[in-house]
Amino acid sequence: MRVQADDSHPDLRAALEHLLAAGGKRVRPTLGLLVGNMLGAEEARLITLGAAVELLHTATLVHDDLIDGALLRRGIPTLNARWSPPATVLTGDFLFARAAKLAAETDHLPLMKAFSETLAIIVNGELTQMFSSRGLIERDNYYKRIYAKTASLFEMTSRAAAMVSPVDEDLIESMRDFGYQIGMAFQVVDDILDFNGDQAAVGKPVGSDLLNGLVTLPAIYYAESHPNDPDVQSLPNGGWTHAENMARLIENIRKSDAIERSMQEASQFVDRALARLEPLHPGVEREALESLAKYIVDRRM
Ligand code: IPE
Ligand code: IPE
Ligand code: MG
Ligand code: MG
Repeated sequence: MRVQADDSHPDLRAALEHLLAAGGKRVRPTLGLLVGNMLGAEEARLITLGAAVELLHTATLVHDDLIDGALLRRGIPTLNARWSPPATVLTGDFLFARAAKLAAETDHLPLMKAFSETLAIIVNGELTQMFSSRGLIERDNYYKRIYAKTASLFEMTSRAAAMVSPVDEDLIESMRDFGYQIGMAFQVVDDILDFNGDQAAVGKPVGSDLLNGLVTLPAIYYAESHPNDPDVQSLPNGGWTHAENMARLIENIRKSDAIERSMQEASQFVDRALARLEPLHPGVEREALESLAKYIVDRRM
């Protein structure tokens, strides 16, 4: 990932260095490496796939933080906190381009196709969210949104790692679903951490989704059991623009059983993922994938 800016403007190199030095959990490349190693893919290809996916993820975060006006990511200032919006947009574009180049370096046409389709799904999802669903309390809409913005990339990574392995269509489908299920769980937990996470551990602003008009699963559960709460009722009419009311609503959601119920839902996604591993031969990679799936619901960051 680091060499991708080698021949570029020094500021671009510094920006990529800044983004990569901050780390991040690197969950997506881990998923690709484990699935591919388990199924006998060529190591070099998996590393290229992992770098491509992580760079794509990084690019979406650069743009997402600019769009959300978020100033903190991975415990350090975002690019948009330090740079102008134009420079931030262009840096994101550069990373998208490099991610596509890496995907092409896998020399696998269906993988490249899946890669660019996923990017289109993510961007289309973000735009749909931006134009139509602020303050909307709708379960179907929520699942569509988290699929587009998060699960689609997990799904593609896991599927692509299987596609470059010597396995049949059924196994590719099984690994696609594994990625889908843990991706859905991952975003549900991300949404829970926005309510109950410790900002220092999470490394990004917490309590910010409702303030951005994003009604996520904990808020949906709360709204279902408290339909007469005035703050809930205000949401579809722009109530999320009132910071004080939202602070109160966030507090009420934290104190309710909505968090616990959301966690149960994340666990159900993980259980469906684990079921996909059951028929496979036991081994270190399978065990590690089980741990990865469980980590997704146990994590604090
Ligand atoms: C953040 O992803 C964006 C979401 C899809 C929730 P991660 O939580 O994987 O971010 P990093 O890469 O570890 O910082
Ligand atoms: C952004 O999702 C994920 C994208 C891929 C665009 P979120 O807005 O939930 O991510 P965070 O919470 O800022 O990391
Ligand atoms: Mg965001
Ligand atoms: Mg979030």
